[in-house]
Amino acid sequence: MAFQIPRGTQDVLPGDTEKWQYVECVARSLCSRYGYREIRTPIFEHTELFLRGVGDTTDIVQKEMYTFEDKGGRALTLRPEGTAPVVRAFVEHKLYGSPNQPLKLYYSGPMFRYERPEAGRFRQFVQFGVEALGSSDPAIDAEVMALAMHIYEALGLQRVRLVINSLGDLDSRRAHREALVRHFSSRIHELCSDCQMRLRTNPLRILDCKKDRDHELMATAPSILDYLNDESRAYFEKVKQYLTALGIPFVIDARLVRGLDYYNHTTFEIMSEAEGFGAAATLCGGGRYNGLVQEIGGPETPGIGFALSIERLLAALDAEGVELPVDKGLDCYVVAVGERAKDEAVRLVYALRRAGLRVDQDYLDRKLKAQLKAADRLGASFVAIIGDEELERQEAAVKHMASGEQMNVPLGELTRFLLERIGKEE
Ligand code: HAM
Repeated sequence: MAFQIPRGTQDVLPGDTEKWQYVECVARSLCSRYGYREIRTPIFEHTELFLRGVGDTTDIVQKEMYTFEDKGGRALTLRPEGTAPVVRAFVEHKLYGSPNQPLKLYYSGPMFRYERPEAGRFRQFVQFGVEALGSSDPAIDAEVMALAMHIYEALGLQRVRLVINSLGDLDSRRAHREALVRHFSSRIHELCSDCQMRLRTNPLRILDCKKDRDHELMATAPSILDYLNDESRAYFEKVKQYLTALGIPFVIDARLVRGLDYYNHTTFEIMSEAEGFGAAATLCGGGRYNGLVQEIGGPETPGIGFALSIERLLAALDAEGVELPVDKGLDCYVVAVGERAKDEAVRLVYALRRAGLRVDQDYLDRKLKAQLKAADRLGASFVAIIGDEELERQEAAVKHMASGEQMNVPLGELTRFLLERIGKEE
């Protein structure tokens, strides 16, 4: 019986893994430039963490979690997102006590959501995210958005759009919630059964409904921006002012409420506007969550962060036709003809690798011509051929594949020769 990969998951094969590594490497190095340090948390957590953290009226918690009982009878969940786990670790390790405040963290790893798979929507996907804990300075909101935009820019994406909103503080949200209830109550039966329930449990979630997105009531729903109190409005103004000062273009969308419950004040998404990119246009989402640390049992600590999916980032790069500078080729392929030459090649290949070069050789006992073809397929910059004659003279016949240039190089000098030509330091 042939097995198939589970729905909504994917294998990343050589040829693509290099792109993943490249993208992750750029994101990591930018994080470090902005002062963010890596945190690694487990793939699964106690289910309760997400009920509390993400919110038990969200789609993620109600419909999308991979929850199971382990052999000890504990309710565990494959993490659907990274913020609640990072906050759990922040509280558990009392990182709020660290002198480094705000604590700026980043993470990268698989997340799991039982969603309907489609282009750009997976059941297992990789998020790269950051969380800055301990500051409610609007400048850090701008920093977090700048970092996300910087990652896209550094990778060569041009058609991205930053969309921002503010959900205000608790007071503003309460006023808005009441307005939403008033707005939807009389005609709630026109909306889906989920929305009918949301009216009671969490009216803001109605604005996030995928089914009723186009209903007239949605377009006319009261805007949160009209319910921000003075303090919340001033905060949002300052965030916008900083973004403008950084030269980062943005648009405001009062209907951007996000699918998780922990947000207040700033929320944002980054969309791809590349042609043909399709439904999963949201590349990145994030926002401020000033009550979450307390909700998870820590001291009152503000926080803000974002997460982007690598799958969608790569799809956006494809849609924009960006070629990543991933170097897939070998520095040198050592071709051996004959048994003695083979013995020498084994030794030589190891020595070249130890010197820092990317080198390979034949392991299928192939003829000269087939070995040369293999070298070509592997994108070797140089081929070093050793046969009986070369061995006799303790030389290799070296060919530069791009130019066709050929020369004999003493075996003892091959390492230095290649290092110099490839431009590497020994
Ligand atoms: P989120 O909006 O649920 O936010 O997810 C963030 C990003 O993950 C989305 O913008 C999207 O690119 C990607 N994503 C979500 N679901 C899928 C999926 N099924 N397949 C592929 N990609 C997906 C969060 O997760 C928050 N924890 C972000 C955050 C961090 N807020 C503050 N800090």
